[in-house]
Amino acid sequence: MIERITDYGRFFVGTKEQIFEKAAALAIEAHAGTKSKNFTWAFTGGSTPQDWYRWVASTKALPAGLLANTHFTVSDERHVPLNSDQSNFGNAERLLMEPLGVPVEHRHPWVVAYEPPAAAEAYRRTMMILAGPGKGYDVCFLGMGDDSHTASFFPGSPLLEDDGNLPFAALDVPGKGWRLTITPAGLRSCGLIVVMALGAGKAEALRRVLHDPFDPLKVPSQILQTCSDRVVWLVDEAAASRM
Ligand code: 6PG
Repeated sequence: MIERITDYGRFFVGTKEQIFEKAAALAIEAHAGTKSKNFTWAFTGGSTPQDWYRWVASTKALPAGLLANTHFTVSDERHVPLNSDQSNFGNAERLLMEPLGVPVEHRHPWVVAYEPPAAAEAYRRTMMILAGPGKGYDVCFLGMGDDSHTASFFPGSPLLEDDGNLPFAALDVPGKGWRLTITPAGLRSCGLIVVMALGAGKAEALRRVLHDPFDPLKVPSQILQTCSDRVVWLVDEAAASRM
């Protein structure tokens, strides 16, 4: 894979297969070197993670030891029931946790039965107990939308200006409904952030992240510059074509 260091983190450019292998390898490496009492790994939404879950389930790329003692969650979520195909946790559970036999007590969905602000507060408490005060996920997977959003930070999101230094938030995103999401402060408390972006549809968004003036309100994924020392981007050649 081609490697490049930028102000927004370390980039690896390769084929989809190489990217999927690297994503698994990074988490395995983080797990092997962890000092955390409870190793936490958060996934995200979108089609890329779902392809990756299927790939992991079919290749058995994650060792049994990691699966048995990792706590799994999602960094951002829609306020929908877990059995919805829009539920990020539901998809991760159906496509990865269930097929691979992750113990139920190691699965940590957002409590979508609560109203969104209460769901975010309940989740913050759960994560504080699991990871420890002030500590984020050991590994956080993210994606990037064609508009350069990441997690649930869409262009103009108030969280990009002021997240109150809280790690998680609920916000009603115009046109998209309620989202429960890690915040920029939350990202800065994670051990490792892995952003997977695949396909030509991401090329312009990635060009804007790297080459437009720093303005996360317009280019939300630029917020990753604030924690670039722990950010690894895994992108295919189509996505990297305008880097
Ligand atoms: C979501 C995520 C979102 C996603 C990107 C990329 O829940 O949808 O919050 O940020 O990661 O939109 O999605 P793709 O993997 O489909 O390109």
